[in-house]
Amino acid sequence: MVTITDLTPPRSRSASVSTTSSDAALPSFESLAPPRPPTTKAEEETRVVVEGLRDEVRLKVDAGPGCGGIAWPSGEVLSRYIAYRHGLDPSCLQNKKILELGSGTGLVGIVAGILEPSCEVWVTDQSILLDLMKVNAELNLPSTQHKRNVHVAELNWGEDLPKSIPVKELDIILAADCVYFEPAFPLLVQTLCDLAPIDKEVEILFCWKKRRKADKRFFAMLKKHFNQFPVDDDKPGAKEVYSREGVSLMRLVRKK
Ligand SMILES: C[S@@+](CC[C@H](N)C(=O)[O-])C[C@H]1O[C@@H](n2cnc3c(N)ncnc32)[C@H](O)[C@@H]1O
Repeated sequence: MVTITDLTPPRSRSASVSTTSSDAALPSFESLAPPRPPTTKAEEETRVVVEGLRDEVRLKVDAGPGCGGIAWPSGEVLSRYIAYRHGLDPSCLQNKKILELGSGTGLVGIVAGILEPSCEVWVTDQSILLDLMKVNAELNLPSTQHKRNVHVAELNWGEDLPKSIPVKELDIILAADCVYFEPAFPLLVQTLCDLAPIDKEVEILFCWKKRRKADKRFFAMLKKHFNQFPVDDDKPGAKEVYSREGVSLMRLVRKK
């Protein structure tokens, strides 16, 4: 089995974060790896168990396109939360339009699409990850359903939102493990603001894993625009488990 530290991608990985910072400012891939490798191993294909889904989620993982090519702990936590919530009340996803930011392998958005065929999901990331997300959507959804309800799109934080996504109609925004690289913090906050304008009701589920002191700077920026509420309706006992791993799950509400 390959370990996470064996997976140092080539220097060109820096292209996977569209910032203007110099290479010297980039954290190494190893330093971004969680202390405990996520359930997802760095193998060609792995499987993630999400209670509420009939089958395990099959994920092709690939460290080549950078850190998004493997599945991270917060993605699993968020996937399990939406599955748990959908099990209690399917209307939370029914006919909803959902966008996932920084999807990486596409795990969370794909789980939403499998759970609820009536919802429409856009899994988004930088261009280098689009092929991986497409493969994973195809692996887990029958082609007709995939084409109908899980779409793959490029969305670079801080840039104009893609015209192919009906941004004004979105009901839910998902983001997992997107707080890890300081130069991208203002870009991510900008995109969250663009997706959740003051006059629009949109639910934002934001899951992150505490790694560095610098994370605080992200939350200081975020606080100017969003109130943050811990999610308190997860499966009993779930929060205690993921909190021990430094993972938090929050709902963000745009400040008026
Ligand atoms: C740590 S990975 C998490 C991936 C996935 N959400 C998960 O939980 O497994 C962070 C993701 O954010 C994406 N990302 C980083 N900077 C970005 C940017 N400027 N625009 C869009 N996506 C970005 C990366 O490509 C990567 O897929």
